[in-house]
Amino acid sequence: MAFEYFSAALEAVPPLRLAAAGGVLLAWAALCRHAWRRGHPLLPAAGEWTVVYASQTGTAAALAEESAALLGAPPPLPLDLLPLERLAGGGRFLFIVATAGEGEAPDNGRRFGARLDAWCAATRSSAGQVPLAAARYALLALGDDRYPGFCAFGEQLDLALQAAGARPWQAMLRVNRSDEASLQHWFAGLGAFIAAPQLTRQALATTAWRLQQRDHLNPGSSGGEVYRLCFVPAADGGGSNWPIWQSGDLARIELPGWGAPRDYSIASLPTDGSLQLLVRRQVDRHGRPGLASNFLCSELPLNGCVDWQIRPHAPFHLADNAQRPLLLIGNGVGLAGLLAHLKAARAAGSAEQWLVYGERCPQADDHAGRLLPAGEGVRIDRVFSRCPQAPAYVQQRLREAAGELQDWVARGAAIYVCGSRRGMGDGVEQVLRNVLGEALLTQLAQAGRYRRDVF
Ligand SMILES: Cc1cc2nc3c(=O)[nH]c(=O)nc-3n(C[C@H](O)[C@H](O)[C@H](O)COP(=O)(O)OP(=O)(O)OC[C@H]3O[C@@H](n4cnc5c(N)ncnc54)[C@H](O)[C@@H]3O)c2cc1C
Ligand SMILES: Cc1cc2nc3c(=O)[nH]c(=O)nc-3n(C[C@H](O)[C@H](O)[C@H](O)COP(=O)(O)O)c2cc1C
Repeated sequence: MAFEYFSAALEAVPPLRLAAAGGVLLAWAALCRHAWRRGHPLLPAAGEWTVVYASQTGTAAALAEESAALLGAPPPLPLDLLPLERLAGGGRFLFIVATAGEGEAPDNGRRFGARLDAWCAATRSSAGQVPLAAARYALLALGDDRYPGFCAFGEQLDLALQAAGARPWQAMLRVNRSDEASLQHWFAGLGAFIAAPQLTRQALATTAWRLQQRDHLNPGSSGGEVYRLCFVPAADGGGSNWPIWQSGDLARIELPGWGAPRDYSIASLPTDGSLQLLVRRQVDRHGRPGLASNFLCSELPLNGCVDWQIRPHAPFHLADNAQRPLLLIGNGVGLAGLLAHLKAARAAGSAEQWLVYGERCPQADDHAGRLLPAGEGVRIDRVFSRCPQAPAYVQQRLREAAGELQDWVARGAAIYVCGSRRGMGDGVEQVLRNVLGEALLTQLAQAGRYRRDVF
């Protein structure tokens, strides 16, 4: 109806006036577009994309891979390896960064702030320039709003980039607990830059697994109960259709009402014939059990089935360290990730492994003694914090072995740390810093020879 009325009215207008009106409309549209672009001066011009991530447990790394693949960009870089010359040279950058610890940077982004500060100081004093004036970026910050510093590292990075003159073409996007709607929003934003958007995202496969065996590893321990769980695929398809994973990867479980998924380090290799986990049943001081660990250790019956998602955890992979001497350091259920590395390294022909592993009590908590295959030719230093004769922590043992530690690193060793961040992870890092020196530890981290799976 309105359309018919409109066409009739148009027919009544003389053609010249119609052409003039059309011209005015076009000019107005051009003006609008110009004004819009002036209002959005930060939309990046065409050019090479650089995708950068800082990731502790692999989520940001995987999203960076996915973003780079969608844009046809080169493989993403960990933030600490991003050359500042490249950033200063201008272009389009995507930063996908998680927050770890207590509002801190993930391990592979911890050194960026200091590098940027030093670069800015040098550039400003030598040439009086705004160091990153040519860089345009978008930032995706991953976090969890149950932590006090929600997306704190993303915010720090955003501020640091802008202080150095880089300009975002859109506001930083915060993603709470991998919320799918926010992630879709991010990928839809990227779609605007692609001529033929193909925004079908590859979800990680979730497979049903059957609990085949559950062993209580530390009866009588004064710490939390630790169980080894062995799962086999629920659908009996033989070994041929098994999900493939590699040492360092994580298994993720999510059930309704939990609020967020929970990750567990995988202790086995596919060739072991089962997905093995070491799970500590968490109980707080009021006796309240943790949801996931209680479910796995107590509620799930033998032969019961659950869905696991196998998650690649690239920052903790063996990668090209497989044939180096390996120094594996950890405590408690952190043994899981180290066991998998030990098996994979031996299968790859690594000649030397040194496991430094801490638990509580020599009688009740000797997980390494129980789980390492007999006859394994690996050097094992076991320490027990509640050993009446010689109580010790992993970091103390490393300090005592400072000379050997230096020797192993000089011979090309790679260092893997798995277990609790507080206490063990931080303490070990302090000792490594003291014994090897800050510069060498930084070099090792940047070369992928110092990797952590701490939680
Ligand atoms: C990369 C990574 C690898 C990991 N690998 C392992 C591993 O190999 N093995 C392992 O055991 N764990 C591992 N974890 C830890 C694991 O993901 C879980 O965080 C852990 O099992 C606790 O989860 P939960 O659901 O049992 O506890 P939650 O339900 O999350 O509870 C956490 C704590 O709060 C207490 N609590 C319970 N109810 C309440 C309440 N109402 N109010 C306040 N507090 C409460 C619980 O007792 C518990 O101590 C890993 C974590 C990460 C990030
Ligand atoms: C041990 C640990 C500490 C965390 N600390 C924070 C934090 O301080 N602030 C925050 O917003 N998120 C925090 N998170 C949540 C992570 O940022 C979030 O799970 C993110 O998706 C992880 O990405 P990644 O797998 O790339 O490391 C923490 C997660 C873990 C496991």
